[in-house]
Amino acid sequence: MAKQENQAIDVDRVDKIVARHASREGALLPVLKEVQDLVGYLPEEALKRVALGLGLSLSRVYGVATFYSLFYTTPKGKYVVRVCESAPCHVQGAPEVIAAIERELGVPFGETTPDGRFTLEMVSCLGVCGVAPAVMVEDRVYGNLTPETVIAVLQEYR
Ligand code: FES
Repeated sequence: MAKQENQAIDVDRVDKIVARHASREGALLPVLKEVQDLVGYLPEEALKRVALGLGLSLSRVYGVATFYSLFYTTPKGKYVVRVCESAPCHVQGAPEVIAAIERELGVPFGETTPDGRFTLEMVSCLGVCGVAPAVMVEDRVYGNLTPETVIAVLQEYR
């Protein structure tokens, strides 16, 4: 299992979320979503409570939590920067934009900056292929980027 940060979680509230869904078929995904909304991510302690409450193995719960990109098993940064790596963005210069972001923030994609400000994620499409290459910061999309303009975008969130 990946290394996880220790964080005290409100076990009672996690247990209440689990209890509210426990009798339903397919409860695991909505429970993980709600617990993540509560805690901010899915630490191991929370996954253990979910497994216990739903009568599932910890490895199954952990497997689901790490399979879906909307779940985080380590703390994420204040701003999530998503970059599309699919072909339309790739041929329009996404690799240069990605390299510029990594250089500017000093961490590779898949990681969070040490100050906890940015988490970098690769995604397969942001749904704005017409303005490739594109980046999404939280819910805001930026298109037609260059290595220079993406740095200016990041500055808005500094
Ligand atoms: Fe990049 Fe769709 S392929 S936004």
